[in-house]
Amino acid sequence: MAIVGQKRSALPVPYAMDPEIPDRVRKERYFDPDFYQLEVELLWPRVWQMACRLEEIPSPHDFVEYEFLDQSVVVLRTEDMAVRAFQNACRHRGVRFVQGRGTCEQGFTCPFHGWCYGLDGQNTGIPRRKSFAEHNLEPGDIDLVPVRCEVWGGCAWINFSDDAPPVRECFEPAATILDAWKVESLRTEKWFAGRLPVNWKLAVEAFVEMYHVVQTHPQLDIPGMRYSLRPGAPFDPRSFIDAEIEYLRVMSEGMDGMVHANDVRVAEGLRDLALPVGPQLAISTWNRALNDAVIRWHRERGADIPDINELDAQGFNETFYQCFPHYFVLPMYSSASSYRFRPLGPEETLMEIWSLTRFPKGEDPGRPAPPEAWEADDPRWPPIPTQDFSNLPRQQKGLHAKGFEYMRLNERLEGHISNLQRTVDGFLAGLPYEQLLPALRLVNVAPFDKPILDLGF
Ligand code: FES
Ligand SMILES: [Fe+2]
Repeated sequence: MAIVGQKRSALPVPYAMDPEIPDRVRKERYFDPDFYQLEVELLWPRVWQMACRLEEIPSPHDFVEYEFLDQSVVVLRTEDMAVRAFQNACRHRGVRFVQGRGTCEQGFTCPFHGWCYGLDGQNTGIPRRKSFAEHNLEPGDIDLVPVRCEVWGGCAWINFSDDAPPVRECFEPAATILDAWKVESLRTEKWFAGRLPVNWKLAVEAFVEMYHVVQTHPQLDIPGMRYSLRPGAPFDPRSFIDAEIEYLRVMSEGMDGMVHANDVRVAEGLRDLALPVGPQLAISTWNRALNDAVIRWHRERGADIPDINELDAQGFNETFYQCFPHYFVLPMYSSASSYRFRPLGPEETLMEIWSLTRFPKGEDPGRPAPPEAWEADDPRWPPIPTQDFSNLPRQQKGLHAKGFEYMRLNERLEGHISNLQRTVDGFLAGLPYEQLLPALRLVNVAPFDKPILDLGF
């Protein structure tokens, strides 16, 4: 198959995706050190990276360190509640002046010789200042180097590129949809981190298609629920409701919060709901009733939740949004999971998983504690990640097999992987943002079961 539209040749990138055969991905893209190095130089410095959740820096003077490859950035809350970011390198002899997170009294003092900086990055003090030559004390030159930083969706984002469009623009139309869903009202309830012995793209791609669900997560393949309905097969509203509730329950436990336990309880309260006999009408009636009950439950407790039925009516009812390349939001009823992926090397990735939910006003859970990174096979993982993580290291090893050349994607169910990989090529080929933006708009919404798309390059 070829991508419809005008004839194209592969971008000038090693192991490039072939526009004539976009359902194949060369294995070298997942481990070749030169390919990885190209990503380090041409992809990561040009994309918005999720540096922290805003509840990690709730008050003025709070800061967190965001580490990415060999870079470290300090993200902080200023006096007027703005968020700013600076490179974490003292201007004297380069020491990373903060580690981890905390709250600074006035500003930062470098632990080596005591150079001081304010929350605006300005140098505020140099011990034995007079013994430096004038050219090493030039105003501006001794201030911290700022990093572009914007706030959206409950997170602080950084970008090393001055030309990148604003963060919201890069995540459209997902940004508008998630704003309508009030994504910014969510707070961290749980936070996990895992060190996976795989390339970052392999890790991402394990979570963007449903094709693996039946084999990898058989407990989610529940007879009678909407995903298992076959056209023309007999439909029983009672067993449909039971199956739907069972699905939510298994998702909630298996992922520790992907479907919030509160919403599962609300669904259980609707078990005896009378549904029409036709499957289509039954599904939409069930959806409406559950959405209404979830909204009511949360509003009665004073939580900020939009009218999710209204959003459904506008078509804003996807369960998966990507903020290319490394952050995801998966809304389910009132709450969401979100993921962040950071490469640690060509074949190692740090993956984090947040369970986010809405809290009543005044019951804010406070600053979340950063998680210890577990290995892929740690017995503490909930069942669903355990299943995904059991395949991933085997896949990374399998890719090295001499006889394995490229992945063979299902063009209808695994199209997002091709779309993602071709967007990466767009960055590696150095395409301008005007060309990359339309591609980002296509890849950021609804990866599940997405076909291969014409990205325009
Ligand atoms: S390196 Fe920071 S004060 Fe010397
Ligand atoms: Fe999975």
